[in-house]
Amino acid sequence: MAALVLIGINETGYNESSDALDRIEQYTRTRNSVNKLLQDVLDAETGSRGYLLTGDPRYLEPYNAAVAQISQQVDRLRSAYAPNSSEAGTLNGLTLNVQRKLAEMDLSVRMRKQGNEEAWKSVLLTDVGKEHMDAIRAQAGRLIDSASQSMALAQDQVERSLRFARAGIAIVTGAALLAFYLYLRQTTRLKLAGEQQQAVLQQERDMLESQVRERTASLAQLATHLQQVREEERGHLARELHDELGALLTAAKLDVARLKSRLGPQQPPEVTERLQHLTASLNSGIALKRRIIEDLRPSSLANLGLTAALEILAREFSERSGTDVAVSLEPVQLDEGSQLTVYRVVQESLTNVGKYAEAAQVEIGVREYTNHVEVEIRDDGKGFDVRNAKPSTHGLAGMRHRVEAAGGRLTVSSQPGHGTRILATLPKAAAPATAPVAEIV
Ligand SMILES: Nc1ncnc2c1ncn2[C@@H]1O[C@H](COP(=O)(O)OP(=O)(O)OP(=O)(O)O)[C@@H](O)[C@H]1O
Ligand SMILES: [Mg+2]
Repeated sequence: MAALVLIGINETGYNESSDALDRIEQYTRTRNSVNKLLQDVLDAETGSRGYLLTGDPRYLEPYNAAVAQISQQVDRLRSAYAPNSSEAGTLNGLTLNVQRKLAEMDLSVRMRKQGNEEAWKSVLLTDVGKEHMDAIRAQAGRLIDSASQSMALAQDQVERSLRFARAGIAIVTGAALLAFYLYLRQTTRLKLAGEQQQAVLQQERDMLESQVRERTASLAQLATHLQQVREEERGHLARELHDELGALLTAAKLDVARLKSRLGPQQPPEVTERLQHLTASLNSGIALKRRIIEDLRPSSLANLGLTAALEILAREFSERSGTDVAVSLEPVQLDEGSQLTVYRVVQESLTNVGKYAEAAQVEIGVREYTNHVEVEIRDDGKGFDVRNAKPSTHGLAGMRHRVEAAGGRLTVSSQPGHGTRILATLPKAAAPATAPVAEIV
């Protein structure tokens, strides 16, 4: 806006100044024309006087030249003034007096040429010529003064335009600078306010993040605790089943054996059949109890170690599901908790393979490295989309939690149609585990 106003001021000043300069030029020309007219009249008078006094026709040359110039100057002056202006009136008077003066000079020159001495001398001696000349001088002076006044007015206008442009430019520039200063101040304030808001938001975000971290940590602790409690309860249940149910079933089996020997060989076939059936039921009950106990708390892990326990797990899975299972198990150095974690990871992975994979071949690998142990369960089944994990399922999530609680990392890689690979990386124990992993049940 300031730039537009400046351009406007500049243009106005320029137009007014150039108008005024044009007028000054025009008035200068007019003034010169008046001066020239006066000069020509004087030249004509000088020429005519010279001729009258000497009779030398050479003086007639400047006289004639001046007379010819006079009519040109008069025409020029007529076009310079507007018809109804006061200057036009003065010019008419001047023209009239010039014509009278010319007529007077023409008369006296003609008489001199004709040799009429008395006549031309009497014309010369009258005051008519002087009066005309005085009137011409006075009227020419008025026209020159009027042109000079108009020039002075035009010059004033030029000065006024310059002053106006100067003041306008100063005011607009000042206003623009003030506006720019206000803009800068506003921008700085807005920036400050934005930064403050940002800082408050950052603070809130930090607070929320730390709350989320705290909650996550306490949830992870809770999950670990729940898993421990679950393991302990499973152990407790396994012991109860072993001690109580095991004792009951064993006592019942002994009672049946005693009953068989008491009743002797001569029995009705129906009783013998019932007793055999009872023995078979008790044996199935004992086998079921063993399986449940084994599932609750793997005694093989405590008794035989991780490698053997995993071999048994793989063999049983293979027999149960009919899937070909290849194992490659290196003896590894892990603490009790981590061994149980490995066992549970393999157990849950095999359960998932049985439930979903429809695999023909499963590979279980345990490898030992300098600082960590890798456990890998790979199947060639139908796989799944890892990104679309269902929130209601807990198998993979539980595995991950167990592994991470033991300081390790779990990677699940799978694609529909390309099998599944579960890889658990666990840190090695500082020293070889000496204590048994679990109590014998
Ligand atoms: N080996 C696999 N082959 C194909 N799909 C699998 C395999 N393992 C897991 N999945 C898919 O991943 C999902 C999540 O498995 P996850 O073990 O977490 O849950 P779940 O077995 O369905 O339920 P839960 O283990 O809680 O009883 C499964 O529902 C299944 O679709
Ligand atoms: Mg599962």
